Amino acid sequence: MAILEVQNIQKSFGKNEVLKGISFELEKGEVMTIIGSSGSGKTTLLRCLNYLEVPDNGRIVVNGEAVFNSEEKENYTEANIRDLRLHFGLVFQSFNLFPQYTVLENIMLAPTLKVKEGIKNKSIPSQEKNREMSCIREKALELLEMVGLSDKVDAYPFQLSGGQQQRVAIARALALKPDILCFDEPTSALDPELTVEVLRVIKDLKKTGTTMIIVTHEMEFARNVSDRVIYMRDGLIEMDGTPEEVFDLSKNEHLNKFLNSGNL
Ligand SMILES: Nc1ncnc2c1ncn2[C@@H]1O[C@H](COP(=O)(O)OP(=O)(O)OP(=O)(O)O)[C@@H](O)[C@H]1O
Ligand SMILES: [Mg+2]
Repeated sequence: MAILEVQNIQKSFGKNEVLKGISFELEKGEVMTIIGSSGSGKTTLLRCLNYLEVPDNGRIVVNGEAVFNSEEKENYTEANIRDLRLHFGLVFQSFNLFPQYTVLENIMLAPTLKVKEGIKNKSIPSQEKNREMSCIREKALELLEMVGLSDKVDAYPFQLSGGQQQRVAIARALALKPDILCFDEPTSALDPELTVEVLRVIKDLKKTGTTMIIVTHEMEFARNVSDRVIYMRDGLIEMDGTPEEVFDLSKNEHLNKFLNSGNL
């Protein structure tokens, strides 16, 4: 069974039809990259998956459970959405770390809030608090080791390079154990030498079976890391295939023009 089914997602801003019916399925452990020219709707699609935008139409199904159904959108409450959002993690282009917190605190913050909420609504017994908190800390330290930043536990974001900040952002997204990790151009704000270390972490994640959707302009990386590549154009999926099908064998005129434009 697919871990993710996206069915006919449509989204307009005013008269601007940005997503015109996006459908795809993703298997567990699969890595899918999304390519396409500026304005084709890539970020909007990721934002719809992460409840940062509400689609006008469509369904999103994770592990067989409908986590979004446009016919029921009036029924979603804020608490609901907070829970549903946990299926997805999102890493932005611009890191978005909390500047007033250390690296470790940045990673522990969201899971800590979740435990506090659990104690408040009694889904977690209050005597479990210390045990839960030490698990969160242990997991955060493990994640920092995985992204190669064990020596930066107590540093503040301003003391880190862009590449290091992005790796903290990846660890932070993983701390909530999402089913699917999404990246929106994770390296486009970075110099080439810092890009390499972020791409290495993403490759390592693939080895551990993490299901990922990556919007990227790094075509070589897309070719190397992807099981599938989707080419979006003007709010639609124009091509969906293996890296070989998309990069080497495609006869699609728009795609080939895009790949040859050098303006990625
Ligand atoms: N909140 C919003 N309000 C109004 N229009 C929006 C909003 N967000 C996106 N758009 C419009 O939707 C279209 C698609 O934008 P989107 O950011 O999804 O493109 P993209 O494929 O991610 O482009 P890029 O490669 O430049 O990041 C654009 O025309 C944009 O102006
Ligand atoms: Mg974008």
